[in-house]
Amino acid sequence: MKKLLRVTVPLVLVAAATIGACGRRSTAGGQAQLLDLAQSRGLSPEDAAHAIKTFVAPGGRDEYLLFASGGHSGQVHVIGVPSMRLLKTIAVFTPEPWQGYGYGADWSERALATGPSGAAHAAHASHAAAVGDNGEDDPVNAKANGIADPDPIGPTEPLRWGDAHHPALSETAGKYDGRWLYINDRAHGRIGMVDLSDFRAKQILQVPNLQTSHGGIFATPDTKYVHISSKVPALKAWNASRGQTASLDDHLNRYGDIYRGYSTFVKVDPVTGHMRLKESFQVELPPYTQDLADAGKGVSDGYAFINSYNVEMATGGIQQGKPPIEVGASQLDFDYLHVINWKRAEEIIAAGKYTELNGIRVISLETAAAEGILHLVPEPRSPHGVDIAPKGDYITVSGKLDPHATVYGFELIKKAIEAKNYEGKDRYGVPILKFDAVVAGKVELGAGPLHTQYDNKGNAYTSLYLESAVAKWTLGPPYHPADRAFKLVDKVSIHYNIGHLSTAQGDTMDPQGKYLVAMNKWSIDRHTNVGPLHPQNFQLIDISAEKMELLADMPVGFGEPHYAQMVKADIIKAHEIYEPGTSPASNAKSPDALASEKDARIVKRPGEVEVWMNVVRSHFTPDIITAKVGDRIIVHLTNSEQTPDATHGFAIPTKNVMLSLDPGETTTVKFVMDKPGTYSFYCTEFCSALHLEMQGWLIVEK
Ligand code: CUA
Repeated sequence: MKKLLRVTVPLVLVAAATIGACGRRSTAGGQAQLLDLAQSRGLSPEDAAHAIKTFVAPGGRDEYLLFASGGHSGQVHVIGVPSMRLLKTIAVFTPEPWQGYGYGADWSERALATGPSGAAHAAHASHAAAVGDNGEDDPVNAKANGIADPDPIGPTEPLRWGDAHHPALSETAGKYDGRWLYINDRAHGRIGMVDLSDFRAKQILQVPNLQTSHGGIFATPDTKYVHISSKVPALKAWNASRGQTASLDDHLNRYGDIYRGYSTFVKVDPVTGHMRLKESFQVELPPYTQDLADAGKGVSDGYAFINSYNVEMATGGIQQGKPPIEVGASQLDFDYLHVINWKRAEEIIAAGKYTELNGIRVISLETAAAEGILHLVPEPRSPHGVDIAPKGDYITVSGKLDPHATVYGFELIKKAIEAKNYEGKDRYGVPILKFDAVVAGKVELGAGPLHTQYDNKGNAYTSLYLESAVAKWTLGPPYHPADRAFKLVDKVSIHYNIGHLSTAQGDTMDPQGKYLVAMNKWSIDRHTNVGPLHPQNFQLIDISAEKMELLADMPVGFGEPHYAQMVKADIIKAHEIYEPGTSPASNAKSPDALASEKDARIVKRPGEVEVWMNVVRSHFTPDIITAKVGDRIIVHLTNSEQTPDATHGFAIPTKNVMLSLDPGETTTVKFVMDKPGTYSFYCTEFCSALHLEMQGWLIVEK
């Protein structure tokens, strides 16, 4: 009976879709035709219905965009929903030649020159050495920020990769505003900023005092700050700033004394979206392992919530007679949810109760505890996700070792803080709220619950890693009356081992329902075998009805994506072209922009050749440049096109010089030719019928 029903429903759907799509055909004929077609491709009527639900006709548009982290590819992938087609890859932590990111273009070199000590960390040492300009003049960089000290625990060599983990779209009043996207690097305490007006990464900031970061990233509801916290604790900033390091003995026996976590509120420039370290601050945390985090919103605006595990402070040291971390970190029944009152922290900063450590203002753990900035809430052991409900009123925490979702009430937390309803303090003096006083509900979901997202009907969706499923359950009042609150209502199987999940705008104050994308770690037996390394797997699920329905698989052959945010496509408003002469570095007119091709010129100075070059279909002007070996060559290129998609490239053989110039763009590249010869530079984009002729000569003499 059940089977019959499942087959009948899609049949009706197929028929209905047929009427809609081919109104002139007879319904019966159309239905028969479609069913024949489905059968000939070996599709069940159910499959055919799913195909129709996800198909976007040629020239059509997707309703949503999914911004997915690219994991250790260091990139962000933009995917259309429901078609699950990859639209673009935005390079952030990793050079990417198609977009001219990290191959000499000034805007990209600045982004990759990770601050605050950007000069020391320019991503391309060869360029940096050659041009003597590692972005010191960049307003987002170190010196303009007044930061002298390099971060003692920051990277010491140019980083050419990052583990892109958790994207955070900028928000206005708790809703995505389509302006910027921030993403953290799991391997380091870095945040990359992507400007969504041109889908280009513009800044990477190394946040001091963090060595690693995980899910600590979110934008506050009006993007005043973007938040990042440490994952494993790092050397206490105070000690690191004085050059102190740790020995094996310190690590094994004084772990709790020498390490600290840091929750960082990175100030965002409201006009440019750039991160400003000088106006940012950190709250020192106990040396637990801080994990995922989310921003309060609505009633909880001004608060931040961070999970932690390993409150046991297991050190590792299997060969030193200590338990493996996985065992040592799972001893206690409870870990701690950190509740941070960041508006209170702002007041404490304004009152000057901070220490500047390694280029950032830090509120000490003692001050944070004493001033009511930091409270701890017990959470069932080894939690992973913490996700705030759309109105900011519930906080869902899921523990990988506990089959329940634990739902805290924000009002209950506030009351407990006011009444000092503590069950005690941790060894650092941070008050711990009484568990029973703050829990609004518990829902048994299944094995290995991780992350939760929400819809527009008061439902929550939690990924179950061990069970390979998504569980749908109900929130409490005002979303659902008390008798229907915190109930499991549906489950759908996932293939396999789901990590994060993303519902449409499901972590904002404007969730949409409709679609859910499951981000799966394993795809064994799902796709054609392409070697021992299988693609990851995204699965699209229809959540518009009471029962969830799996619609499509999308194999993902790039890195290990972690989290994604799904935004209504019409919220994103990227330029089709730049205003003539715009520098992507400044988003303003470049002083080196050419007003017309006639102004193209070459200026020679001792040891230097400076070129203002016009680029248009299908020639470069000038198309011959002469220089001497060792000359510093500076080329300002203006793509004088104003036709959408009339992109040109600029590549020089033997050098890591590869630009991509969008219509209207002015970009500068600086390099040194170290061997005499005649080099043919050329346009790398198939821009016109005469694209192959779009080349020129760089003649380098001894
Ligand atoms: Cu310009 Cu090819």
